[in-house]
Amino acid sequence: MPPPRNHSDKLKGSRVLIIGGSIGIGVGLASAVLEFGGHVIISSSSAQRISQAIDRLRSLHPHTRDDDDDAAIIGIPCDLGNFETLTEQITSLFAEIATHLGGPNQLDHVVFTAGDALPIKPLEAFSLPQIQQAGIVRFFAPLVVAQHLRQNLRPTSGSSFTLTTGGVPHHLMKNWSVAQAYLGGIESMARRLAVDLAPVRVNAIGLGPVETELWGGTKEAGLYEEVRARFESKMTTGRVGEVGDVVEAYLYVLRDWNVSGSIIRSHGGTILL
Ligand SMILES: NC(=O)c1ccc[n+]([C@@H]2O[C@H](COP(=O)([O-])OP(=O)(O)OC[C@H]3O[C@@H](n4cnc5c(N)ncnc54)[C@H](OP(=O)(O)O)[C@@H]3O)[C@@H](O)[C@H]2O)c1
Repeated sequence: MPPPRNHSDKLKGSRVLIIGGSIGIGVGLASAVLEFGGHVIISSSSAQRISQAIDRLRSLHPHTRDDDDDAAIIGIPCDLGNFETLTEQITSLFAEIATHLGGPNQLDHVVFTAGDALPIKPLEAFSLPQIQQAGIVRFFAPLVVAQHLRQNLRPTSGSSFTLTTGGVPHHLMKNWSVAQAYLGGIESMARRLAVDLAPVRVNAIGLGPVETELWGGTKEAGLYEEVRARFESKMTTGRVGEVGDVVEAYLYVLRDWNVSGSIIRSHGGTILL
């Protein structure tokens, strides 16, 4: 049996791809991985936001600016928002990663935190193309990513693929049928992928409200304080989560090599009320 690794060293030297790593929870996780000595590849649709994220991460983690550690942060754009080009985009993302890392099967972890605006409106107001579009980034993209993982993750139980969903599947709210169909489906996807991709571990993180750039539109509309108060009145913790809180759930699934097919929830007790 190999000697147990120190908890603080478990991510040291690991290579972690974060899809949706330019802002929000994804960039928070990138920062935590760097703090524990790992290397990150961050991806999103916007080259500009990736570049801003890299500047921010380099200023938070000065060791990543050393010449001999210039591979600590890599950014690669990949737009997941178009059904027609989805497979092509994801295939070229992994091809570029293999070039950077010197071949296939060099990644230790892939984490999916990408998400676009949630489609909330009366069921009948959706056309079929709109229903399909609603699932492209959150649902179809992680499945296509999964199709690439046998060639790109190290084939051991130390490796993992982590999905993201909301605590929302447990709340029954009007006008959420389309969004909830995809969010609930991600939980099922994680359990099934854990079987298909074994021994690589696959899990999903189920989140409640977290203060991130996702709420930018609500803030701009001057509605955030009202929405926040409504959320907090339904959370046992009485406070909306912060990125630094929920990043712990992702770190947990990366570091517990015994967890697979699980849904880990970090939702401030929101589904309990
Ligand atoms: N924050 C919450 O309250 C909360 C609650 C429950 C669940 N969640 C879920 O958790 C995940 C992360 O949330 P967050 O708050 O960190 O969101 P966020 O701050 O809005 O970040 C979302 C990420 O997804 C990327 N993205 C969006 N559209 C994309 C596309 N077409 N192609 C590739 N990347 C794309 C964004 O980058 P670009 O814009 O640069 O492409 C960004 O990196 C999302 O799935 C979200 O729905 C969040």
